[in-house]
Amino acid sequence: MVEIKSDKQIEKMKHAGTILAECHKALSKKVTEGITTIELDQFVDRFLYERGATPAQKGYMGYPFATCASVNNEVCHGLPNRKPLKNGDIVTIDFVVNLNGWLTDSAWSYGIGTISPEAQRLMKATKKALYKGIEQAQVGNRLGDIGNAIQSYAEKKGYSIVREFIGHGIGRKIHEEPQVHHVGDRNTGGKLKEGMVITIEPIFNQGTPFIMLGSDGWTALTFDGSLSAQYEHTVAITKNGPIILTEQA
Ligand code: MF3
Ligand code: CO
Repeated sequence: MVEIKSDKQIEKMKHAGTILAECHKALSKKVTEGITTIELDQFVDRFLYERGATPAQKGYMGYPFATCASVNNEVCHGLPNRKPLKNGDIVTIDFVVNLNGWLTDSAWSYGIGTISPEAQRLMKATKKALYKGIEQAQVGNRLGDIGNAIQSYAEKKGYSIVREFIGHGIGRKIHEEPQVHHVGDRNTGGKLKEGMVITIEPIFNQGTPFIMLGSDGWTALTFDGSLSAQYEHTVAITKNGPIILTEQA
């Protein structure tokens, strides 16, 4: 069952999303050479508590941190750790904000110092694909239209899409229906209705789409060791078009 949200509920989610977006903007200045992902995790944790919000990932299915921090060939669900970030690294920080019981989810990839043209190109294409997907989040369209927009763009740019991790409905729980695939055919899949709130969160790899699970039991890594990037927004589907609840104004 896809839970439809009222305008009032979407408004509440927008407040959670604004805190999340402001936290990402603050992170963009902190993600620099020498900082560790555990320090970034603690920064996010404090940022949210100071604003009356909580990090919803902490304790979710036993996950121990506020954020996931995935570096270079790490695809997603990377565990924050004490290793300093180096010049040229890319890191994706993903977290979910709970404000008064309403959740929003957004991930962003950051480059540290001077990153390679290849890494820049990968990040740019992944972000662009997210916005191509969001453009399709219109009442009357189907889920396959979102997947198709992202897939076509990935193919055009020569990147592969990780299939194992998908977007999802979100509201009072992190993962609600529907499942939002980042590949698909136009005019297929469930119809998008007014009041649906979903995440769109494509992960692009430089090499093959295949992944493996790291020895910590959480971190997903590219199978071929190539770079991976991810961008994610929480999006409300309204009669006036998609509203990005986590946009970094
Ligand atoms: N933010 C992730 C998502 O997009 C959820 C991570 S679950 C965790 O669905 F347990 F790893 F935190
Ligand atoms: Co998500």
